[in-house]
Amino acid sequence: MATAEITRAVVEAAGGIPVSTKLSFHCPSLALMARACHEAGASAITAINTIGPGIVIEPGFRKPVLTNTIGGVSGPAILPLAVRAVWEIRRSCPLPIIGTGGVETLEGALQVLMAGASAVGVGTGLWRRGAGLLEVLNGELEAWLAEQGCGSVTEIIGVAHG
Ligand SMILES: Cc1cc2nc3c(=O)[nH]c(=O)nc-3n(C[C@H](O)[C@H](O)[C@H](O)COP(=O)(O)O)c2cc1C
Repeated sequence: MATAEITRAVVEAAGGIPVSTKLSFHCPSLALMARACHEAGASAITAINTIGPGIVIEPGFRKPVLTNTIGGVSGPAILPLAVRAVWEIRRSCPLPIIGTGGVETLEGALQVLMAGASAVGVGTGLWRRGAGLLEVLNGELEAWLAEQGCGSVTEIIGVAHG
């Protein structure tokens, strides 16, 4: 499997620096892929990359937003797919997961964490809401955890699996 071979090569070249392999939602089996990355020496899995490709049209310009017309879809529309990916990887592989895809609210971050991610990645949210979003999310998460009587975020990682 190319993903495993590439992971192994990068891990060897990294000389001890932790390597997280990023998986696409489109791979045939997230579970198999994550396990292969684990066996190849990855320290974590990042999931997911963009989905599609799709097309977004800017009505004001009457044209697709992207010069290339089609491209990877990111942002809130893909959150449920990211949550599913984290969920499946959590069930099949012991590596920590960096959950990424459509997170730009506290609720989104909580979903990704409860599906099993140990950390949350925010990409498109920074573009849509500005770099201050990270501080806002951290503050909201801390307040939410305190309200719930949780001493640490680790108490909610993967809890949705029961
Ligand atoms: C403009 C743009 C550029 C991106 N470039 C990369 C890239 O170079 N490498 C990569 O692994 N993912 C790249 N991504 C994917 C993001 O890292 C992320 O996995 C994806 O957008 C889903 O998260 P988000 O909805 O928070 O943006 C890019 C996404 C966008 C929107």
